[in-house]
Amino acid sequence: MQQRLLQHLSLFHFLVLAVDPSVPETGRRGAAASSPPSPPAHSAAAGCEVPPSHRFDCGAERLLAREGCEARGCCYAPAASGAGGGPPWCFFPRGYRSYRAENLTATARGYAARLRRVAPSFLPGDVGVLRLDVALETESRLRFTLRDPARQRYEVPLATPRVSARAASTLYGVQVHEDPFGLVVSRRPGGQVLLNTTVAPLFFADQFLQISTSLPSRFISGLGEHLAPLVLDTAWTKVTLWNRDMAPVPQVNLYGSHPFYLVIEDGGSAHGVFLLNSNAMDVVLQPSPALTWRTTGGILDFYVFLGPDPKSVVRQYLDVVGFPFMPPYWGLGFHLCRWGYSSTTTTRQAVANMSAARFPLDVQWNDLDYMDAKRDFTFNKETFKDYPDMVRDFHQRGLRYVMIVDPGISSSGPPGTYKPYDDGLKRGVAASLLQVWPGPTAFPDFTNPETHEWWHDMVKDFHDQVPFDGMWIDMNEPSNFVEGSQDGCPNNSLEKPPYVPGVFGGRLQAGTICASSQQYLSSHYNLHSLYGLTEAIGCSRWRPFVISRSTFSGHGRYAGHWTGDVESNWEQLSYSVPEVLLFNLLGVPLVGADICGFLGDTSEELCVRWTQLGAFYPFMRNHNDHGNRPQEPYAFSPAAQDAMRKALRLRYSLLPYLYTLFHRAHTAGETVARPLFLEFPKDPNTWTVDRQLLWGGGLLVTPVLEAGQTKVSGYFPAGTWYSLVGVGAAAGLPGAATPFLRPDSTIHSKGQWVLLPAPLDTINVHVRAGHVLPLQEPAFSTAESRKKGMALVVALTPDGFARGELFWDDGESWQSFEKGDYTETLFLAAHVSVGGGHLDGILLEAVTILGVTSPPRQVLANGARVDDFSYCSDTQVLSVPVSLPMWEQFVITWS
Ligand code: GLC
Repeated sequence: MQQRLLQHLSLFHFLVLAVDPSVPETGRRGAAASSPPSPPAHSAAAGCEVPPSHRFDCGAERLLAREGCEARGCCYAPAASGAGGGPPWCFFPRGYRSYRAENLTATARGYAARLRRVAPSFLPGDVGVLRLDVALETESRLRFTLRDPARQRYEVPLATPRVSARAASTLYGVQVHEDPFGLVVSRRPGGQVLLNTTVAPLFFADQFLQISTSLPSRFISGLGEHLAPLVLDTAWTKVTLWNRDMAPVPQVNLYGSHPFYLVIEDGGSAHGVFLLNSNAMDVVLQPSPALTWRTTGGILDFYVFLGPDPKSVVRQYLDVVGFPFMPPYWGLGFHLCRWGYSSTTTTRQAVANMSAARFPLDVQWNDLDYMDAKRDFTFNKETFKDYPDMVRDFHQRGLRYVMIVDPGISSSGPPGTYKPYDDGLKRGVAASLLQVWPGPTAFPDFTNPETHEWWHDMVKDFHDQVPFDGMWIDMNEPSNFVEGSQDGCPNNSLEKPPYVPGVFGGRLQAGTICASSQQYLSSHYNLHSLYGLTEAIGCSRWRPFVISRSTFSGHGRYAGHWTGDVESNWEQLSYSVPEVLLFNLLGVPLVGADICGFLGDTSEELCVRWTQLGAFYPFMRNHNDHGNRPQEPYAFSPAAQDAMRKALRLRYSLLPYLYTLFHRAHTAGETVARPLFLEFPKDPNTWTVDRQLLWGGGLLVTPVLEAGQTKVSGYFPAGTWYSLVGVGAAAGLPGAATPFLRPDSTIHSKGQWVLLPAPLDTINVHVRAGHVLPLQEPAFSTAESRKKGMALVVALTPDGFARGELFWDDGESWQSFEKGDYTETLFLAAHVSVGGGHLDGILLEAVTILGVTSPPRQVLANGARVDDFSYCSDTQVLSVPVSLPMWEQFVITWS
C-alpha cells in the first residue's frame, strides 16, 4: 500500500509542465486569485497555431469581436463560412493558464491538492482556490471532485456509494499536471489516455464551471435525453441538459438529463464518465475529438468507469446511480391509452373492442379525461361516475389500470373545496405558482420530506376510492404554460446567469418555473432537472409501477420512462430505436415510445410497423393525442390487425425471457434492450448500429423503419442466427399453426449485412446460437399466459452448446428477489435443472432445439422415450413435445 502511494505521488512530481514557453512570464505568474480581472494575462498572438478541430471556445458566454477576444488573451480567427456550428472564432491559445495545482498530498481514498487561480478570469464570481480530491474508489472506478473549500456549494442529493479506503489495485493511472492544472487518466495496462483535461483551461466561477477533455475515439454515446443517433456526431455537436417539456426534435434539450457518456476505444474497450451535476449545462463535442462540460452551478464531481468492456461500464455507472427496479410481470404486457377516452363508457368500450378483436391487453390507461376540471386526485362525477367500478371490473377480467397524474395542484378553487390544495397549503409543500392544464396551480416541492408525506396521503385517499395499479407521471420537467410564474420572475443572477446554455426558448425559465424559486433543498436553479426523479421517488413508494416523462440519472431505480410527444411519422419511428437503447445504457430499461406516434394522425402501414417494433420496446404502450384518428389495433383493416396480432403474440410468447432480463437488470445492472456493440464490442461494425436492437444477449430484432419496404437490411455479427419468424404462435406450443422456421432462414454470418425479407406482416427476430430462451404460450393477458405451458427454444452453437435462464416469481410482490421468494432456473444445452416452488403447476410442453446437425434416432425425456418428436433436416430443427413438471428437475437427451 505504502509503495503504491509513493508511486502515485512520484508521478505527480515528475510531471511535464504543460505551460507553453511562449507565454510571457507575467502571464505565467498571473494575478492573485481574488484580485479583480484586470489587464489581460495572455498574449493574443502566442500559441494560436491550433488546428480548427482542436480549438476550444474562449467566448462561450457571449459573442466576442476581435478586440474583446484578444482582451481575454485569446486568439481570433473568424471562419469564412458564417458563424455557428463549426470551430469557435475566439479560442484559447495553447498553454492558457487558469489554475495551478499545489500541495498534492495522499488521503485515505487517494489524493488531494489545492488549485490556485493564477490568471484573472473574465467571469463574475470566480473561485480563487479550489480543492481537488481524487478517490481511487474501486479497481475500475475513479472519482474526482473540484470544490470551493471556503464555501459549501450545492451538490446533487443523490445517494452514491461511500468509499473510505483506496482500491488496492486499479485499472487506471492518474497524473496531475501542475500548471496549467490538468488531470490525465489512462488505462492500465497499455497506457491509452482516456481523459486529458489539459487540452483547455478549467473554469470554476459561481455560475460557470467548465472543463474539457480529449476523447480517445469518436464513438461516444450517452448524454440523454436527446433525439439523435446512438453514437453522437463529434463535429461540433452541443448537447444541452435542462429538463424541458418539448415534443422530441433533434438538437434540443428534452425531458431528461443524464450527464453520463460511454466511449468505445479502438480495439473495443470502453470507458464511461459521469458528471454528477444537475445544473443547466451544455456538453460540446468537437472533432479532435474532445468534449467540454459547461455547467452553470454546483461542483465538478466526476466518476470515471474503466470497463474495460462496454457492459461493465454500464454496470459500473449503475453501481453509482442505482440498479433498475423490478417491474411487475403485467407491466411487460400491452398497454393501451389515449387522450380522448372521454368517459368510462368509451374506456370500457376500448377494452371490449380489444377483446372482441382478440388482441391481448394487460393494462388500460386514462389520460386527463377522467379528472374533474383536470384536477389531480378527482374524477368527473358525470362522465366517470362509475370510475371505481370500472377499475374493479378491469381487475375482474385480469386487467390492470393506470391513470395520469400531473404534479401541478390546482389553486384556483375557493378555499375548502379541494383537499389536495388546502392540505398542501397547510403543510407548506408548494414551491411555486404556475399554470398548467387546470389553470393556476401550485407546484409541490418533492425535495421536502413533508411533501412526500402529503403526497402519500393524497395518493392513498385516491387509491381508497379508485384501486389503480400504477401511476403515469407527466408534465414533471416541470412544465409550465406561462414563463416562470403568473407574476413573472424576479430580476436576479439565477434568472439571468452570465451564461445560459443552449436551452430551447433561450431562457432557463422558458416553459418552466422561475429559476430562483426556493425549494426545500436549494434553489430551483440547482434542482430543476431533478423534479421528475424526486416525484418518481415519492410515487414509487406507493406503487411499484411508475412511468415518468422527466428523468435524471438514477431514475431507473424508481420508475420507467416513455419518450414523450412523438409525432406519428417514420422519422420518429426510427429515432425510437436509439432512444430506447440510450435509456437502457442510462439504467432506465423500462422504456418505450408511444406506439403509432402521439401527435398527428398515424397511417395504417406506420402503425403496423410501429406495433411490430413496439412489441420489442421493454415498455409497450399505444398512446394517442386527442382529436387524432383512432389507432388502437382494432381500428385497422383485417390484414393490419393480423400483422399486429402476430407481433403481440410474439411478445407475449417471449415474456418469460423478457421478465428474466429485467431480473438481470435489477440484480446485476444489465441492460434489457441493448445495442449490438454491448455484445460484440470487438466488432467495430456494430458500434454505430442503431436500427436494430437486441433483447439481452440472445435475440436480435431487425424492424422495418421506412415506408413501403418489404425488405430490410440488418447487421449480423459473426455466428449463427436462427430466424424466429412466427415462433410466437409456434415454438412447438399447443395450438401452434404458423411454420416455425423458414427453411432458408438460418444465417451463418461472418459479420455481415444481410438483406432480409420483411413483408408487412413480419418483423425479423433472430435467436443467437448459444442461447436458450424460455417461452410461454401467449394469451389475452399475462394473468392468463402465466398459467400456460412453457417451451424452450434451444439454439445450439456448432459445438452443441446453449445456455439460458428463467426467473420466476408471483409476478408482482414487491422485492421478491430480495426476500428470496422466487425460482431461478438455469438451462444448459440438453441439460435442464430446476429448483424452487414458483413454477408449481406449470408444465413444460415443448422443447425446440435449433442447430441439430443430424437426425436423432432416439429422444428421451427423463429417461422415457419420446416417440412423436420431429426433425427437419433442412432447418436442423428438432421439436420435442413433452409434458414435464417445471417444478422438478428434468433431462432431455437425443442421440
Ligand atoms: C402531455 C403528455 C401526453 C399527454 C398529454 C395530456 O403532452 O406528454 O402524453 O397525453 O400531456 O395529458
